[in-house]
Amino acid sequence: MRIVLMGAPGAGKGTQAQRLVEHFGIPQISTGDLLRDAVARGTPLGRKAKAAMDSGALVADEIVLGMIRERLGEPDTARGFILDGFPRNQAQAEALATMLEAIGQPLDAVVLLEVDYDEIVRRISGRRSCPSCGRVFNIHTDSLGTPPRCDRCADHPILVQRRDDQEATVKRRLQVYEEQTRPLAQHYAAQGLLRVVQGDGPVDEVTARLFSVLEGQPSRTAQE
Ligand code: AP5
Repeated sequence: MRIVLMGAPGAGKGTQAQRLVEHFGIPQISTGDLLRDAVARGTPLGRKAKAAMDSGALVADEIVLGMIRERLGEPDTARGFILDGFPRNQAQAEALATMLEAIGQPLDAVVLLEVDYDEIVRRISGRRSCPSCGRVFNIHTDSLGTPPRCDRCADHPILVQRRDDQEATVKRRLQVYEEQTRPLAQHYAAQGLLRVVQGDGPVDEVTARLFSVLEGQPSRTAQE
């Protein structure tokens, strides 16, 4: 199954993508995670991406497309993949279509996770991640102690907040989403690929809604 997960910052794309990975046994490809990893390792690509990420803007298409092209060439994507946070504008959507056409692997579905604005702000303000294992938590919904610590790692490291989760940056990310990414819903609706899922409510309930729109979804072939 080849899926795109769309939604505003904090809508729960990463959280739900993990559930889909476990269920369908296909990899999650998160451009945000790939970029953050490049920044943390100080690679040339990471150095180029850092300023845009810190300001809440999109990283240049050529950087992101290069990463995606490379990742889709890896063997674990042969049975499918979950694209999390990509594509994010019209140019990326068109480039993705061209790439998938070339390898004969069209998308099966594009899922848009819809969440209330106030809930998005609450989720982002409460998001913390483990600097060691990278797992994402939320101080509003998980029992994490003070200071909040990772309960999965043996040495229980203190959880950290993402640099781009500060208020001014979040505002900018939401604006970029409305202007450049949300319009892609129309683009995919016109192709009959869009599935809208309410992302409010407990994580398990959202997962159940997601499965119900994806189960029974026939895998498309290149000819369709
Ligand atoms: P990216 O990392 O993709 O960030 P994003 O799209 O803003 O999404 P988030 O990671 O903030 O949220 P999410 O929807 O995954 O929510 P999560 O599951 O964590 O991108 C970061 C930056 O990289 C961009 O600003 C840009 O600069 C650059 N970039 C990335 N891709 C790019 C591209 N294609 N082109 C150009 N630039 C690109 O959940 C959020 C919190 O809520 C967590 O704490 C979680 O535990 C909690 N939560 C989740 N679900 C629920 C629930 N149902 N109830 C309660 N809490 C919940």
